[in-house]
Amino acid sequence: MIREEEAVLLRALTERGIRFHAIAAVDRNWGIGRDGRLLARIPGDLKYFREATMGRMLIMGRKTLESLPGGRPLQGRKTIVLTRRRDFAAAGAVAVHSIRELVCETERACAAAEDGMAAGGDQSARGADTRNTVFVAGGATVYATLLPYVDVCLITKIDRIFDADAFFPNLDAADGFSLARAGDPIEEDGLVYRFTEYRRGDGRGR
Ligand SMILES: NC(=O)c1ccc[n+]([C@@H]2O[C@H](COP(=O)([O-])OP(=O)(O)OC[C@H]3O[C@@H](n4cnc5c(N)ncnc54)[C@H](OP(=O)(O)O)[C@@H]3O)[C@@H](O)[C@H]2O)c1
Repeated sequence: MIREEEAVLLRALTERGIRFHAIAAVDRNWGIGRDGRLLARIPGDLKYFREATMGRMLIMGRKTLESLPGGRPLQGRKTIVLTRRRDFAAAGAVAVHSIRELVCETERACAAAEDGMAAGGDQSARGADTRNTVFVAGGATVYATLLPYVDVCLITKIDRIFDADAFFPNLDAADGFSLARAGDPIEEDGLVYRFTEYRRGDGRGR
């Protein structure tokens, strides 16, 4: 749960054109993890995550950062990590200690990307989208906190039930989101999964 003043800051950020997208792999019960780890490592899904997020900004909780290989941020993506631990540091990631700091750092990073564009960067519509879209990359606590400000969720649905202890909010039951796209089932390493996209509103999105 966040305080009303923090909600106001997050709403103001989205009103200034910064968009939050969430990305997650879920099982049939919207489970995402167990004992601090992913439920399954699916090469095709890891590739999808890499392609969707490369060159973008990621927001994640400290536990998710520590679950990454070597506890290090992913290459090619600016990573903002939420933690209340003032002494927490991870090379290559920016630690923020509150939603207020998260909003400031997100705005600062988007402004820096805009400055880079003015200095000769990608001026296409996709370039602008890249600079203003921030991916919420988990885990359960961070998804739950930021979902009200997210407008697109890229959800990989794994057709199995795992013994999960961390969950993504069930978008089929939540108000506000609808399924906008569902890919064909893919089979890999004995697991069947599909890429889906949920959008806030009636599914047609912006
Ligand atoms: N399937 C997927 O797509 C996917 C993606 C990501 C993660 N996961 C899974 O999700 C699980 C981890 O989720 P989780 O909920 O336990 O942990 P998490 O969300 O990754 O991290 C929680 C931590 O973030 C910090 N935090 C959260 N909200 C904060 C706030 N408002 N202000 C400051 N700091 C804040 C706190 O860090 P401190 O304790 O340091 O203060 C908190 O303990 C793992 O099993 C992981 O594998 C799955």
